[in-house]
Amino acid sequence: MSVKLVDNCDGIELYRLESGNSYVEIMTYGARIHKICVPDKNGVIQDVVLGFENPTEYRGPNPYFNACIGRVANRIGGSSFVIDGQRYILPANERKNHLHGGIEGFDRKTFTATIDGDILRLKYLSVDGEEGYPGNLQVTVEYSFVDGNLKIAYFAYSDRPTHCSLTNHAYFNLNGDYKSIVNHRLFIKSHSITNIDNELIPNGEILDIKGTKYDFSCMRVIGEHLFDNDGLLQVAGGYDFNYILDNDGGAVAEVIGDKSGIVMRVYTDRPCVQFYSGNFLDGTVKGKAVFNRNCAIALETQGYPNACNIPSFPTTLIGKDGFKSETTYSFSIID
Ligand code: BGC
Repeated sequence: MSVKLVDNCDGIELYRLESGNSYVEIMTYGARIHKICVPDKNGVIQDVVLGFENPTEYRGPNPYFNACIGRVANRIGGSSFVIDGQRYILPANERKNHLHGGIEGFDRKTFTATIDGDILRLKYLSVDGEEGYPGNLQVTVEYSFVDGNLKIAYFAYSDRPTHCSLTNHAYFNLNGDYKSIVNHRLFIKSHSITNIDNELIPNGEILDIKGTKYDFSCMRVIGEHLFDNDGLLQVAGGYDFNYILDNDGGAVAEVIGDKSGIVMRVYTDRPCVQFYSGNFLDGTVKGKAVFNRNCAIALETQGYPNACNIPSFPTTLIGKDGFKSETTYSFSIID
């Protein structure tokens, strides 16, 4: 295991975390994952996340490629919330709503890095009022990569009550060819999702999905109903739903690349995961690869989306104990 600086260009540092013949690269810009390189069933190393060739390219337009998302992952309906009787107005960056921390969320901030043994520690101070949120929020994201386990630990402390729900927006294609995830197989340990309106804003209802086309509690191929174009699949243009986890400490999700045999298991202490089937991917180019619709899957572990406006959802408000959370993406080969 080793962590080392491998590139420093135009204000962005790139670190490599190596374990055996696998490695992960993380950059200070957006605390982003640049690469996850792991062996497939033939021993060939595949990079299983979308991304650009060079770290500086992430400064251009892109759909949050593999970035840390904050202060609040997912959507906040109407771009506002109330804390202690005071209404806070956030910038709207998707219709009238606030998505993934706003116009300049954590995906667009440069973190400060230190190496501590096997851990790459990235820190960022989000000042009071940034993107409309109250409180100075000191954020730490720690990455480690040991024996195929990419662990991300989050810590955030604010000097005033504020909302915080951090995640990582990695886009996975476990075949490493960035073509399509329709034949990837998926399991999610969940029997319910949060219902959404036609702007994908959770409206407070919980939907029982047992036995429906949204149910992945028995592993199956993602493409089976992906193009049905009815119900919520029509609203979201595919899967883009918040699954409420039946978390028993084991893997909450598992994905298998059909060509590569690469398996990814997800472990988390968060109550939910957003399963997004890359419906809005639009042909962004990395070298010779084109990232088209459904060429990647995101599994963003998170708190209940829009919880700041829905009192029946577990809160994302943090007090003096701050925000602490851990998610591990664990890579192996199919048996
Ligand atoms: C959301 C999608 C969105 C994507 C990129 C996902 O977390 O659920 O609706 O298009 O992020 O912004």
